[in-house]
Amino acid sequence: MGRAPRITTGVIALGLWATGAALAAPDCPPTHQTPPAPAEYAALRNPLPASRAHLAAGKKLYRSDANCIACHGKRGDGTGVLAARLTPPPRDFTCPPVGAPVADGQLFWVIRNGSADTAMPPHPQLSDAQIWQLVLHVRQFRRQDAPSPQGPAR
Ligand code: HEC
Repeated sequence: MGRAPRITTGVIALGLWATGAALAAPDCPPTHQTPPAPAEYAALRNPLPASRAHLAAGKKLYRSDANCIACHGKRGDGTGVLAARLTPPPRDFTCPPVGAPVADGQLFWVIRNGSADTAMPPHPQLSDAQIWQLVLHVRQFRRQDAPSPQGPAR
């Protein structure tokens, strides 16, 4: 009993360190592809204008009421306090999409229903308007060099 537990602890600590280091790297482009939303969602367009009031409401939901910040982080770069434990990691909203920009309806669907087999939870408690406010807020994190935030065929 003298030595073995120590060695085990050391190995586990090293393992955790290595995992943490690997996940701390930016996940851009994303390592996991979120499944596409059903057609009836994919066609949706955000009915809300990017007004100050809607953006402020989205920010409040993100930071406190809906607690997106715990995973996606204050800057939306996927570095929230829970992020290091998650595989696939939370989406880095600052990462420019590789192909076509993500459509409004896709973002709405993921926020409402979550992403299967990942830590992204469903949010049945949020109203449609609240989800659209979150979509407006999440799009604000996109880096300046990224393509148009409006999604295709808007
Ligand atoms: C417990 C951690 C966790 C919380 C809390 C969380 N997310 Fe996520 N989110 C994830 C993970 C993990 C993914 C990546 C899913 C995937 O790869 O399919 C993700 C993906 C997403 C995506 C998909 C982006 C894309 O490009 O397809 C959106 C949008 C999103 N989250 C928004 C939100 C919003 C808004 C909230 C708060 C209402 C939230 N998330 C709360 C973990 C979380």
